[in-house]
Amino acid sequence: MKVLIFRSRERAVVRAAGEIVQQLQARPASVLGLATGGTMDPVYAALIAAARDGQVAFDRATMFNLDEYVGVPPDHPRSYEHYMRTHFFDALNLPDRTWRLPRGDAPDPAAEAEAYEARIAEAGGIDLQLLGIGANGHIGFNEPSSSLSSRTRVKTLHRRTRDDNARFFGPDEVVPTTAITMGIATILDSRHALLLATGAAKAQAVAAMIEGPVSARCPASALQLHRHATVVLDEDAAQALELRDYYDTVHPDGEDGQMPAMRIPGLEPQA
Ligand code: PGA
Repeated sequence: MKVLIFRSRERAVVRAAGEIVQQLQARPASVLGLATGGTMDPVYAALIAAARDGQVAFDRATMFNLDEYVGVPPDHPRSYEHYMRTHFFDALNLPDRTWRLPRGDAPDPAAEAEAYEARIAEAGGIDLQLLGIGANGHIGFNEPSSSLSSRTRVKTLHRRTRDDNARFFGPDEVVPTTAITMGIATILDSRHALLLATGAAKAQAVAAMIEGPVSARCPASALQLHRHATVVLDEDAAQALELRDYYDTVHPDGEDGQMPAMRIPGLEPQA
């Protein structure tokens, strides 16, 4: 696991977006795994800016999102499909054929989950999987106790996840109780896993993921088994790491010499 700690959230975001840009520059027809959530808002803003600047194009890529709420139709304002359209796909006029999410309103969610897993395999598997982490250590909607060999399926959301996500819902709206999510083994099959975490609310989950035991208690800890996982953090998300000195020695200021200096219009990294 490569641990890169940056001085600011902006620097961490530029690095995460830069990984995606670099992947597509090397292979425009890459298969990307994408994530939703507040952490990803500035990543998509950066990718849109980089695409408009001519640094990268997404029209030859195939993109699979991690998860979708069960029972929420694609055009519902709280659906993850709506999130992806408004934060990313529509801004670049990406054709429908380039991206996919599980159908939250599928009549048989279990069958939909199985078909989604098969579609990823048909596309040749995921080259680069973008991930956030929940405060309870989830990746995708793989909540604590998820099987480390799970595939795309329906999961019941943890109370804490529903509370955390309540901010995206109106006071009269009910946060869904289940979701279709890629499984941990689906995520581990990706050729490169890239997890971005920012902010102090993630510090305990990040420490459990990197330094704790591999355990279904913290599903993200399964990334310790991934052959090519990169964890991109800001100072706040890194604050509970016990081996911090070591990560700073190996990659001072998050630099590993793998990423040419990248300029994203409108996103000037703060010192
Ligand atoms: P967040 O969600 O970016 O909104 O904090 C991350 C996650 O739950 O995976």
